[in-house]
This record gives sequence, C-alpha cells and structure tokens, in this order.
Amino acid sequence: MTETQKSATLTLNGENYELPIFSPTAGPDVVDIRKLYAQAGVFTYDPGFTSTASCDSTITYIDGDKGELLHRGYPIDQLASKSHYLEVCYLLLYGELPTAAQLEDFETRVTRHTMVHEQMHNFFRGFRRDAHPMATLVGVVGAMSAFYHDSLDVTDPWQREVAAVRLIAKLPTIAAMAYKYSIGQPFVYPRNDLDYAANFLHMCFSVPAEEYHVNPILSRAMDRILTLHADHEQNASTSTVRLASSSGANPFACIAAGIACLWGPAHGGANQACLEMLKEIGTVDRIPEYIARAKDKNDPFRLMGFGHRVYKNTDPRAKVLKQSADEVLELLGVDDNPLLQVAKELERTALHDEYFIQKKLFPNVDFYSGIILEAMGFPTSMFTPIFALSRTVGWISQWKEMIADPQNKIGRPRQLYLGETMRDYVDIEQR
Ligand code: ACO
Repeated sequence: MTETQKSATLTLNGENYELPIFSPTAGPDVVDIRKLYAQAGVFTYDPGFTSTASCDSTITYIDGDKGELLHRGYPIDQLASKSHYLEVCYLLLYGELPTAAQLEDFETRVTRHTMVHEQMHNFFRGFRRDAHPMATLVGVVGAMSAFYHDSLDVTDPWQREVAAVRLIAKLPTIAAMAYKYSIGQPFVYPRNDLDYAANFLHMCFSVPAEEYHVNPILSRAMDRILTLHADHEQNASTSTVRLASSSGANPFACIAAGIACLWGPAHGGANQACLEMLKEIGTVDRIPEYIARAKDKNDPFRLMGFGHRVYKNTDPRAKVLKQSADEVLELLGVDDNPLLQVAKELERTALHDEYFIQKKLFPNVDFYSGIILEAMGFPTSMFTPIFALSRTVGWISQWKEMIADPQNKIGRPRQLYLGETMRDYVDIEQR
C-alpha cells in the first residue's frame, strides 16, 4: 500500500482535516480515515460497506464494471479453462502458481487429510435426519475445534498451515456426510486415488452395494463449479470470517461463522432459492407472470440468480458456467427437463427485457451452478453446502493473510445511534 502525494480535505465546523490517499495496484484510490475520529470527533456512516475498504489484500481483485475477476492477477476464465481447483487453492493460499513438485506435495498433503476423526460419525448421528445440510455443516465445522486441538493456536504459523489443509481436505467429506445422513444412506469414506472433485461426487453418489464410476465430464464440471466459487474478495461471508478471526478465534470457529453467513438467500443461499423459484414457476407459459412480479415495486419478489452487488456488466464466472451447463445437459440428455426449459426461457426473456437491461441485472453464477447441480442429481438443499466447500479456501486464504498482517486489530465498527437518550427506570406498577 503506497501513500500518494494526494490527500482529501474534509472541512468540518470551519476546521480542515487532511486525509491521506492510498493508491492500490488496481481499483479506485482509498481515503484513509483511520485518524478521523481522534482528530475531528466524527464517525463515517456506510451501512452495507458500499464505499468502505475494510482491509488491504493481495488475493483477489474484481472490476465490477468490466466484469473482471482476478486471483493473484490471473483471470478467472483462464484459471477455469487451464487450471483446476487444487492448483487454484495453492495459488490463493501461497500467492503464486505452484511448480509441478510444489503441486504434487500440496495435493499429497490435502489427500492425506481427507478422512475425518472417526468419533465425528457419532457427532453426526446427533442431528435429525431432516436437518438442512447447511445446519449440519455449520455445526460440524464449528465442532472441528473440539476434534483437532493441535491446530487451534493462531499465533503458530505451522498450526495455521495444518488447519488450512485440514479444512480444505475435510470439507468435501463433511458436506458429503451431511448429504448421506439426510437421505439415510451409509457414509462413504474418501478415495484418495480420485481427484478432489471426483472424490466428492463418489462420496455423494456411491453406495457400498455396487460399483460407481465417476463420469469425467461431470467431475470436470464439478471442478469448475469449485474453481469459480473459490474466492470473491471481501464479500459478506469473507468479511464475517475476517471479523470473527479479528478477535483471535480459532480457524474452525471462524469458518463456521463464514458458513452461517453464506447460508442467506442474498448470498450463497441464492442457488437454492433460484432452483426453488424455477420449480415454483413450473412451466414456460408462467414466466411472464413472474417477470411482471419481479418488476413490480410493491411486490418483494426478485428473480433469484439475477443481479450482483459488484458486477454491473457481466459475471465472468457465469459465462464459464453457462458453457459447462450446456455440456452437462447434453451429456445427461436432460434438455427436455421442464425445469431446465424454464431456466433457459427465463434467462432468454430477462436478457431481452428493458427493466433487466437498464438495471444491469443478468444471470449470476448461482443461476447456472444450480442448473448443473440439479442435472447431476443433487437436491437443492446441497447447493449451498457445495458453495461453502468451494469457498473454504478463499475464507482460509483471507484468514491467513489477516492473521499474518502486523496491522491486524480487532474489528469494532461504530454506529449512528438513534435510540432514546438516558432516562430513568420505571417500576413495573407505574408502566
Ligand atoms: N430481480 C428484480 N429486481 C432486482 C433484482 C432481481 N434479482 N436485483 C436487483 N433488482 C432491482 C432492485 O429492486 C433495485 O431496483 P430500484 O433501483 O428500482 O429500487 C435495483 O435492481 C438495484 O437493486 P439493489 O438491491 O439495490 O442491488 P444490490 O447491489 O444491493 O443487490 C443482490 C444485489 C442482493 C445480489 C440483488 O441483485 C438480489 O437480491 N439478487 C437476487 C439474489 C441473488 O441472486 N443473489 C446472489 C448474489 S451472487 C452470490 O452471492 C454468489
């Protein structure tokens, strides 16, 4: 972070305050207001953080107007077509693409950690079978801190490294176990001879009674979904992880906090909400009714899977996934599935509708990931857990970056208080 010659002047009650300006390597300049309260006695007000940089970071860069997403400088479309998930994990965690030897070593470390503590199987059995897999995931990931005591000390770089690898390795196992538990099938142990995505599909869809072969087109599509969701800068769940860890909380607790935040329908829960919306629409002839509702100011209904806080031109991840969706649908021969027909027609209609064009609303990554996961046979309740498992590397990379930063201090936003000023307690008989 370089301080520029430029500064901003704030005039308040006749006094001038000089605020330094920092220049990033890409993106808008940042006005440094850290000393503002001490010097001028005022706070800034920015609910939703629409104009606030909460940290500095070297991991991911997004240009929402250009529709650009870079991890450590590499464009997401190049990573999605030329790389694969575990290599992208390495890139996010360590800052550079690995050499062949570094990648082999990293893959070995991850695959050696894919099993979970056997006692965790009993922990799972305490959940109701009809629990949402996200509820199970939040609980089990939080409980990892009760199982892996030797990687809780965040001041020890080696323990941080072990915790990072454990989380990346075990999240697919835990997500698959949450799924198997919810459908009453036995847990399937990980297979370390399969790649990361194929192993996850195997743990979800195989049963002990028969052979299961993972289709390479499906495992490639799954790897792409994971790669495209790996990190996304300071979004709500990542900021949650950073805020939770700013207090020094252990990594498993922090990632559980991120998973809880991701669950909401305005964030990671949108892929489930989108598929549920498509099911509710049901047939192509009902699309105009739902488009009209989405445009009606008096109706809270929104087209799920459309729009984005940062991307106002195109979601670069959605472009890649649209191609994957076409490949998967063709392979599975489910093009005549009514739900998928609704999805395709809704996409076509919205992209040509003046309201959506003007407000820059287009299908986001959740729209296409939901279609692919549905076609693969995942129930909608598994969509957000799959998002969580792919985003774990992003959360853990941002967490590592933050803990290693000497400027790291506890996050403590202030507020614009609009409540009552001090008043005397009234005894219950007098109220
Ligand atoms: N359908 C209909 N209208 C919409 C939609 C939508 N999906 N999204 C935004 N709008 C409209 C709003 O009503 C608003 O209209 P107005 O200016 O007339 O009031 C305008 O577009 C701007 O909307 P905001 O809510 O201010 O935009 P914001 O950037 O805050 O919201 C968000 C982004 C939350 C993603 C929003 O577009 C949305 O709710 N989309 C549906 C949920 C979704 O798909 N979320 C996934 C996000 S991607 C991810 O998490 C991986």
